[in-house]
Amino acid sequence: MKIKTANSSKKKTNLLCGFVLENDSKVLGLPKFDAKTTNVINQSLKDMEGKLGKLSIIPLSEKKSIQRILLAGIGKKENLTNDTIRFVSGKIAQKARELKLKEFSIISPPSFVNEPNSTISQIIEGSKMALYKFDKFKSEKTGSDPNLTIIVSKSTKISKTIKTSEIVANGAIFTKSIANLPPNECTPTTLANFARSISKNKMKCSIISEPELKKKGFGGISAVGQGSKNQPKLIILEHNHGPRNEKPIVLVGKAVTFDTGGISLKPGSAMDEMKFDKCGGCTVLGIMKAVSELKLPLNVVGIIPSVENMPGGESYRPGDIIKLYSGKTAEILNTDAEGRLILSDALSYGEKQYSPKAIIDFATLTGACIVALGTNVAAVISNDEKLTKKINESSKRTTEEVWELPLNQDYMDMIKSEVADMKNVGIGKAAGTITAAAFLKNAIEKTPWVHIDIAGVAWTQSSTKEKSYNPKGATGFGVRLILDYLQRL
Ligand code: BES
Ligand code: MG
Ligand code: ZN
Repeated sequence: MKIKTANSSKKKTNLLCGFVLENDSKVLGLPKFDAKTTNVINQSLKDMEGKLGKLSIIPLSEKKSIQRILLAGIGKKENLTNDTIRFVSGKIAQKARELKLKEFSIISPPSFVNEPNSTISQIIEGSKMALYKFDKFKSEKTGSDPNLTIIVSKSTKISKTIKTSEIVANGAIFTKSIANLPPNECTPTTLANFARSISKNKMKCSIISEPELKKKGFGGISAVGQGSKNQPKLIILEHNHGPRNEKPIVLVGKAVTFDTGGISLKPGSAMDEMKFDKCGGCTVLGIMKAVSELKLPLNVVGIIPSVENMPGGESYRPGDIIKLYSGKTAEILNTDAEGRLILSDALSYGEKQYSPKAIIDFATLTGACIVALGTNVAAVISNDEKLTKKINESSKRTTEEVWELPLNQDYMDMIKSEVADMKNVGIGKAAGTITAAAFLKNAIEKTPWVHIDIAGVAWTQSSTKEKSYNPKGATGFGVRLILDYLQRL
């Protein structure tokens, strides 16, 4: 999708779109039309009532420079959220695609929240993200015309907002597009190549492979990776645009390109969805791409441990005791609890190598997270209140929802092992999301850390709330959230 600005919304267009509040008899920001057209608009307004998500098209006469007007309901004023304009804009863009238009215009209403340009950001994010479709493997392309152009009304100091929103949306779309790839087309090596390609001339990119991983002490990544012929990779991207000696923010993302469960094999139903077990790592890649394009004046490091978790003659087994990068030992009781093993290595490495200001990790870590919070809210577990507060604020602004779960000593005790420093599972089904985080906490000595379990939100599942800008498949959850956090540092 392309973006253009115009001086007035009354310029030539195929489709002029405006937002309508419920029970409000006007289109926000609509310019004046002749009496006849105004009458038709008013009749349409009465019919659609501004109900949330409702779209109503009014064809105008052939000779008019504006061919159609589209009224888009945004619901009651008191129910408006930070997300309303985003998802209604997504619907508008999908309508324009359905009508096979070459361009459409949206009249940007005044900000409903006290942040300049927030509506324009939402219009761009919503329409761009809604137009993405995973059609790479379809002979008949069903996706959107890349030349479809959205025209937004020009106002002062808007161009920077447009540029930023475009980069943010592209970051999320990049995350979706690699997260959606099937496991035969996306191995740890493929992800390493994606990292290299986005780093070109912009970021430092290093890849650690076997046998170095084993030699350097990445016992978790090595153990989980050893069962697959697709070798594990530790991918590291560095964006150094902050002051020279400023400590970086480290972002870590779980990238299991396929999680069969290993020797503790998963049941067959919906196992295909475990191609999405790489979503945490894909989120970090999308964030790093955007961070470098935005040239944020910060130091940010992305660390992505990537493996394929397969059963086989070379696989690690229940009963194994392995040594993690932290130096601590772990008793393996279930090879399906693999995410915490590779993340533990990456977290310790991030802390030791970079002495960061903060570490944030993303992982489709536990099925228990879906039981606890469902498929629209991610779990947050942290050792630092201030950092959690900032993530919560960014969550409110981006409507990428999170909810904090506790992590005290009692939970740490639940992963104690008889034979090693810890075991890789808790006790039965109790607090599965928290005991997984307890395992991760052992990897970090002192750095403020937030863990985000995205098992429920990383891709659309049967109970996922429908949103125009998150069509079926990976959602790119976390990209907008963390870019908001980083931009405010
Ligand atoms: N990748 C899964 C978690 C998962 C499952 C995410 C379903 C999204 C949907 C993870 O590696 C896993 O298998 N976790 C186990 C842990 C258990 C063995 C302690 C789980 O959640 O069942
Ligand atoms: Mg697993
Ligand atoms: Zn997994």
